[in-house]
Amino acid sequence: MAERNLDFDKVNNRKDTNCLKYDFAIERGMPQDVLPLWVADMDFQTSSYIQDALIEEVNHGIFGYSEVKKPYFDSVAGWMKRHYDWDIREEWLVKTPGIVFALAMAVSAYTKPKDSILINLPVYYPFREVIEDNDRKLVSSDLYKGEDNRYHIDYEDFEKKIVEEDVKMFFLCNPHNPVGRVWTREELETIGDICLKHNVIVVSDEIHADFVFKGRHQVFADIKEEYKDITITCTSPSKTFNLAGLQISNLFIPNESLRKTFKKQLDRAGYSQLGVFGLVACKAAYDNGEEWYKAMKEYVWNNIQFAKEYIDKNLPGVTMTDHEGTYLIWLDFNGTGLTPAEVEDLIVKKAKLWLDSGRIFGKTGYGYQRINTACTRQVLTEALDRIRDALNKNY
Ligand SMILES: Cc1ncc(COP(=O)(O)O)c(C=O)c1O
Repeated sequence: MAERNLDFDKVNNRKDTNCLKYDFAIERGMPQDVLPLWVADMDFQTSSYIQDALIEEVNHGIFGYSEVKKPYFDSVAGWMKRHYDWDIREEWLVKTPGIVFALAMAVSAYTKPKDSILINLPVYYPFREVIEDNDRKLVSSDLYKGEDNRYHIDYEDFEKKIVEEDVKMFFLCNPHNPVGRVWTREELETIGDICLKHNVIVVSDEIHADFVFKGRHQVFADIKEEYKDITITCTSPSKTFNLAGLQISNLFIPNESLRKTFKKQLDRAGYSQLGVFGLVACKAAYDNGEEWYKAMKEYVWNNIQFAKEYIDKNLPGVTMTDHEGTYLIWLDFNGTGLTPAEVEDLIVKKAKLWLDSGRIFGKTGYGYQRINTACTRQVLTEALDRIRDALNKNY
């Protein structure tokens, strides 16, 4: 049996393990010696129950084509019910090897080249990439930051863009990466009604749903019967249990016609079965991962609060956006007086950190940096110390 893995202060070596976060600095244009807090996976070992389930699978030693039946669905449905009070039906479930893949499939399934797809910049950059790479038109209704240090949707602009650009599909990010908002039921209802009114399909990416620290996660499709009919809900155990390398995600498409069209697109792409390890890990996570999940979430929340206090006290001119969800915090460096290019230079060359620069999330992200807090407190402290020292040297 694997160790319980409940000590999140434990330092796990990820170097030389084919790890995207730690082993590819040079290939990705970074100096070799940067401390990485960029890509959204965790430095923690996953739940021991998942490890044990995978070990059992490995010991079986036969890795032929695999599929899952009702017990898998029951595990997924149990998690959705316990955490979001959402009742899902077995026929809605469509499994894909990741959510970005699912977004790309949705683009091809439901829209034609040159069709407009709406997003809310700044947002997780593959949203933009799957739209542009598939020759669709990117339309953004940019979020704006209010006096309350939180981001908001400009509803008037949202509807105007949909009408003027004849938008066919909207990618909703909830909770929102990188700005850390957890959209309220009222906010979701306002945009949901606009999408309904104008026949816009909603792809609701809820991959960060298990990381809600303020408020509660509202499944978009579950707000109204009519929303079910226009929504593809994307979920995954990958962020929650650090399983991104196992490529497993669970989509829910209640509308039969949309589901058929999506499945047809999977056929066109030549895709059928998932890897067996992802399936095994997902079931184990949802059946037995509760204790690990709660402990990990508390650790991450403590990290986020620590970062907030540290930044307020030690990083003059830097503001952390009020944080409600995801383990990714969003820092505004524009008050330092540095230009966005100078901020990037300071982070990479002086602080020697590999973060996600706000630039990659769109124009509205200039002068911002995103930090992944799903690491040990020691690493987070080291990163913040480096920023403090670099800022001090810069003046
Ligand atoms: C909003 C969002 N969607 C999707 C993903 C990636 O999902 P996947 O690895 O399943 O493609 C991420 C990863 O950071 C994310 O933040």
